[in-house]
Amino acid sequence: MSANSPDTVDERHSYDVIVVGAGGAGLRAAIAAHDAGARTAIVCKSLLGKAHTVMAEGGAAAALGNLYPEDNWKVHFRDTMRGGKMLNNWRMAQLHAQEAPDRVLELEEWGALFDRTADGLISQRDFGGHRYARLAHVGDRTGLEMIRTLQQRAVALGIDVFMECTVTDILKDGDKVAGALGYWRDSGNFVLFEAPSVVLATGGIGKSFKVTSNSWEYTGDGHALALRAGASLINMEFVQFHPTGMVWPLSVRGLLVTESVRGDGGILKNSEGRRFMFDYIPEFFKAETADTIEEADGWYTDKTNNRRPPELLPRDEVARAINAEVKAGRGTPHGGVYLDIASRRDPEFIRRRLPSMYHQFKELADVDITKEPMEIGPTCHYVMGGIEVDADSGESAVEGLYAAGECSGGMHGSNRLGGNSLSDLLVFGRRAGLNAAYHAVKVRTARPAVDSAAVQAAVNAALTPFADAGGENPYDVQRELQDVMHSLVGIIRKADELEQALLEIEKLAERADHLTVAGDRKYNPGWHLALDLQNMLWVSECIARAALTRTESRGGHTRDDYPMTDDEWGTKNIVLRERAGAIDLAIQPLTAMPDDLNTLFAQS
Ligand code: FUM
Repeated sequence: MSANSPDTVDERHSYDVIVVGAGGAGLRAAIAAHDAGARTAIVCKSLLGKAHTVMAEGGAAAALGNLYPEDNWKVHFRDTMRGGKMLNNWRMAQLHAQEAPDRVLELEEWGALFDRTADGLISQRDFGGHRYARLAHVGDRTGLEMIRTLQQRAVALGIDVFMECTVTDILKDGDKVAGALGYWRDSGNFVLFEAPSVVLATGGIGKSFKVTSNSWEYTGDGHALALRAGASLINMEFVQFHPTGMVWPLSVRGLLVTESVRGDGGILKNSEGRRFMFDYIPEFFKAETADTIEEADGWYTDKTNNRRPPELLPRDEVARAINAEVKAGRGTPHGGVYLDIASRRDPEFIRRRLPSMYHQFKELADVDITKEPMEIGPTCHYVMGGIEVDADSGESAVEGLYAAGECSGGMHGSNRLGGNSLSDLLVFGRRAGLNAAYHAVKVRTARPAVDSAAVQAAVNAALTPFADAGGENPYDVQRELQDVMHSLVGIIRKADELEQALLEIEKLAERADHLTVAGDRKYNPGWHLALDLQNMLWVSECIARAALTRTESRGGHTRDDYPMTDDEWGTKNIVLRERAGAIDLAIQPLTAMPDDLNTLFAQS
């Protein structure tokens, strides 16, 4: 081993709040913690600004009422709950709907440049499951603009950033958070962060699946760190397959094609040229009177007497419909369906509203979307499940451990509406950051202390892939895991396949205990993957276990053997914890929604 890479920690930092992850939730949390007076640092595995937040392209959902004055938080709350098939943590959905407008306006004050209406207000775009056009947007680059704004502010405030530094462990003093251990990806040296508050904002789990819009960073790190630290995960069976990812060329398979294409008028067609989404409108969304469904003009009337294109049903419905068309032999040459905006909007409109999509297809697939349709198919995009937190504070079951954004659970129930992630990370990033800062103040005179023996044990564990000669290559194990998750725990699931998946994951986990990596610790991606794989395996097991347990279909969880939504399950969350190195699963009742919110569902 290199003399420059000591087998111990030789770098220490002390903060009040450590934020792990530098996407929208992490940046917003860090800004809030800093503004509350906490000494704050961001630790991120990748470069600052490189986050899946940029893949939320179409906009941030907020009931600003700019296009439809009748829009308000109550309608947004109701849409979010209906989209999540009522399994959402109602308090999170309420806070989100109430606070999203202020968070978007605040972002504008900080320099975000949103598209405007003719009256100069922030423009709002239509997305699936939202009753009114309510996504504040910047062309099809909203996530990027959000990251740019938050990043600029965090840097201007002087918040310390540790880039290309991966956190491997949360450290505790008894049952309280005391800090985190990480390593520099370039040198392989370990670094210790002492802090009484840690905010996890690590995003999703997409890299456990073969086809995903997520990039290499999304290996479920926050989920696994929380689990191992003693926190619980909920709703892990609910994985969102965004209906439209690129299917061709193979090198970019899974890359996101924003829902804005459909929001701005794009329609879906099968290989027979038929607009098939009319065949897949569930009873749940139809108006009471069937004769109000009007295919002729390209719209149908939904339960709230709103007229909508069927392509803007919630994502789970659209992804399943595409899957069914391909399975029925009506797919495109590369196994997707067609998304056509060229025949619906003029080229100038398309280039103005969807500049990234225009360039993405032109440069990567040699397709001009102003002239021809795109070939698209579902791609693993988001996990609704995550770290169970207190809705108001973002604190997990472990004192001092907070979570926000995609790695937290509850807010979106069984299915997230498009556009709700950007507003989610602003609302709950701020709340988690603030509360992490308050906690740090509370324990200022009795700060939890890091145990040096625990630190050394964590260092030793992280170095085992170097010690194990003759073990397996981590890339082989990762590829097999992705195959298992794709084919046995994908969009449509059934008991025997899920049982098979669990056996395969167990075997892969045994193999992952004996990985071998070549070279030393400097710039060693094989070693990095060996460590990430442990997280991916934990998370994959949680998804498969919860998916096998939930014997119904709901949102982002479809069981071929239990195709109906079951009211009994509509009152239950599946909660997962780590107990003595194994996953423990429990079924937990949802907390009842108060009457004043319940009555909103009686209204149209
Ligand atoms: O389709 C999109 O632009 C993605 C948005 C989201 O996931 O919220």
